[in-house]
Amino acid sequence: MDPEHPPLLRIIEEELVDYRIRSRFSHPDFVKKLGLSGSERVLEFGSGGGCLSRVLARTLSPDGALSCVEISPYWMEKARQRLKVFTNIEYLQGDILTMSMPENHFDVIIIHFVLHDIEPAARIDVVGALSKCLRPEGTVFIREPAKPEHGMPLSEIRALMRDAGLREIRTGCTKSRQWRWICDGTFKKSW
Ligand SMILES: C[S@@+](CC[C@H](N)C(=O)[O-])C[C@H]1O[C@@H](n2cnc3c(N)ncnc32)[C@H](O)[C@@H]1O
Repeated sequence: MDPEHPPLLRIIEEELVDYRIRSRFSHPDFVKKLGLSGSERVLEFGSGGGCLSRVLARTLSPDGALSCVEISPYWMEKARQRLKVFTNIEYLQGDILTMSMPENHFDVIIIHFVLHDIEPAARIDVVGALSKCLRPEGTVFIREPAKPEHGMPLSEIRALMRDAGLREIRTGCTKSRQWRWICDGTFKKSW
């Protein structure tokens, strides 16, 4: 997919479903369950148009901070416009594989519906790059669709995390009408 020019259908779906509905009605529940204290340094990987970032920015207190990493200039600009009222967001546009990121820095990394869209062969390097930025004992929260034709199985998520030095805290899958299954997990970086 061309990151500069997303397809029109995806733009419409993102505005109507992700931004107007999910961002208001289902993302707040997801973020609440993460149990953030509010003072964390959070990296949201593949933040897109900022639908989840909006909820994360609201949850963080003034001593917390959100860094949004997004490869697409289009979606990064969209997020910047939508979230301009928030002063605790840093926008980092680029590919996580080639960006220079601080090591052992973030308390929390969130991967929400991103990894399944990345070429399978590149996923291990992406998770490795993310793991590098996470502080020891920092937490990764991941949530991905598990539809066989568009998604990734929980077994792959577990293997990728393990190979990147992240230990499993919990995982689970819930039924979904659109995605059949959505799998999520919590992992920690060992010392
Ligand atoms: C399906 S969207 C999900 C957006 C957001 N996380 C959400 O749930 O609303 C996946 C996003 O990840 C971004 N992305 C994919 N590969 C990336 C990479 N290597 N570095 C940074 N962002 C990436 C895409 O451009 C896209 O905006």
